[in-house]
Amino acid sequence: MDNLNIKKVGVVGCGLMGSGIAEVVAAAGYDVVVLEADSELLDKGNKLIDGSLAMSVRRGKMTEADITASKGRIKYTLNMADFRDCDLVIEAVTENMELKKKIFNELDQACKDGAILATNTSCLSIIDIASVTGRMDRVLGLHFFNPVPAMKLLEIVRTIATGEATLETAKAFGQSIGKTVVIAPDIPGFIVNRLLMPFFLEAIRLVESGQASKEDIDRAVMLGLNHPMGPLKLADFVGLDTACFISEAMYKEMSDTRFAPPVLLKKMVAARRYGRKTKRGFYDYG
Ligand code: CAA
Repeated sequence: MDNLNIKKVGVVGCGLMGSGIAEVVAAAGYDVVVLEADSELLDKGNKLIDGSLAMSVRRGKMTEADITASKGRIKYTLNMADFRDCDLVIEAVTENMELKKKIFNELDQACKDGAILATNTSCLSIIDIASVTGRMDRVLGLHFFNPVPAMKLLEIVRTIATGEATLETAKAFGQSIGKTVVIAPDIPGFIVNRLLMPFFLEAIRLVESGQASKEDIDRAVMLGLNHPMGPLKLADFVGLDTACFISEAMYKEMSDTRFAPPVLLKKMVAARRYGRKTKRGFYDYG
């Protein structure tokens, strides 16, 4: 661990992203405190982390001893006061601005003065989230990608108020957990989703228009562009509800029709065809 400023990391929310973040941070040698809203969610999060760690052994990425050490570094709590000695807290709750603002307001009071507060939001304005704290210079975005243990990139999102020291600490932290960092602006979609969303939406419009099949679109992108998954498979993987939310948030922010969700996407979300998580999206996962 080559980042001396950060020793203990808090993670708010232990769903798909929060559990992945807690896992990679603990595996890198940091002490981690995971906070959830109730004991059922905490238990679910604990199981997600343990399951993913066990998978790493099966994939030959970790030894049983590594797993035991990682698990020993993670503490689970329902009490935000347990963040009092954290040097960095990463929030990974659902994409809801009001909820995030409430959490950041509470974090600002619960965390020590020097602590950095980060959000894993994929599309919301980070300066808006930071504005409810009394430490806007120590707030930034740390945007991880799914599946967190496998994806090499970390987008560090700098707001107009993020301090230079905060940015440097975040860069060193990102590298220390094995990620390659890029500095992204606090604009809708940052870098990756700014490019990914028009790509998703155009693929969906192509399906909607009946001009190409989903299989051919995905095959074309995989073999013609060397992507590991085609856009429709990837949209199912990310979650069509999430993709639709990001698209709506970006459209609202920019009034640019390139980002407007196609009718087909909205209908699929209404039908709860969210993709892998509900076992049905563009493809069936039953
Ligand atoms: N946890 C840990 N490691 C994993 C993993 C997991 N859940 N899933 C796969 N891996 C690792 C494997 O260990 C393997 O690593 P090595 O090559 O070093 O051995 C590698 O990933 C490939 O795994 P597999 O061969 O088992 O499986 P695959 O080839 O089908 O890859 C995948 C699975 C990594 C998910 C790949 O399909 C992929 O990269 N897909 C694209 C994922 C992507 O683009 N994610 C970003 C979504 S956008 C987002 O998250 C942000 C947002 O705001 C919407």
